[in-house]
Amino acid sequence: MNAVTLLRGLFRRVRRIARATVRPAVPTVLTDAHGSNPPPRDTYASLYEQHARSTGDDGVGGGDYDVMGEIELDVLRGEGLLPSSTLLDFGCGNGRLAVHAVPYLDGGSYIGTDIAPTFLQAARHRIEAARGASSCTVRLLQQHGEQFDVADRSVDMLCAFSVFTHMEAEDMYRYLVQFKRIIRPGGKVIISCLPLRLLDAQPIFLAEAALDPVARWQRVRNVVTSEDLVERIAALADWQVVKWLPGDEGQASSHDGQVRGLGQSIVVLTR
Ligand SMILES: C[S@@+](CC[C@H](N)C(=O)[O-])C[C@H]1O[C@@H](n2cnc3c(N)ncnc32)[C@H](O)[C@@H]1O
Repeated sequence: MNAVTLLRGLFRRVRRIARATVRPAVPTVLTDAHGSNPPPRDTYASLYEQHARSTGDDGVGGGDYDVMGEIELDVLRGEGLLPSSTLLDFGCGNGRLAVHAVPYLDGGSYIGTDIAPTFLQAARHRIEAARGASSCTVRLLQQHGEQFDVADRSVDMLCAFSVFTHMEAEDMYRYLVQFKRIIRPGGKVIISCLPLRLLDAQPIFLAEAALDPVARWQRVRNVVTSEDLVERIAALADWQVVKWLPGDEGQASSHDGQVRGLGQSIVVLTR
């Protein structure tokens, strides 16, 4: 064997080793937290419909059902809701606010939207039973994504009680952007949220933290926040904060002068 043959053999062996160890470049792919089982496009809708069917009347939050609905209306009245106003109740659930708002909005309009048909159906029945002689125009709409079948600048006040407490911050931003089209100039958006500084929010956060991400998103989850985060998201969506009604203080006066609160903080936004 001459030197050339020896070198050729060596060269082939090196090439074989190199082929075996160097893998072709593969682009780095970031998969979502659900790994090979990504969430369906309608995560919130399917989770909430499932939740509505399994919980019925209890599915819209803690506290005395009737009292919480009264407090929600008192908050809106405190922020200027008039009987002639048009109110959009985003995530209206099974009508906890509506049964108080519709009789009050005599001469006005109530639009309730919800992602879960079972909740909307329950709201329809409750409103029929509660409306009395009120001339309020009522529309109940199933929410599809961020689209609202509502005319531009037609809503005086939009509320979202205990809705963004179950959504990621990015989704709150997406809805705030859409709200701009339907709110009339000078109108208000009123949102409840759970800042982590509230003592009641801390066990809620810790209970979520005890679950892994997949388990967390297998049911309606609770999302805490901070005043700062909410304000920054609102600013990115081009809303200004009018005021905060902190969840650890009284937030609204009832007709008999009782001062009560929801236990969640409330932010009032305008443009
Ligand atoms: C905790 S409940 C509160 C219901 C009501 N606001 C109240 O105070 O009684 C949250 C509601 O928001 C609805 N929801 C959740 N995500 C939604 C979305 N993206 N669009 C519309 N409704 C939604 C749920 O179906 C549920 O009825």
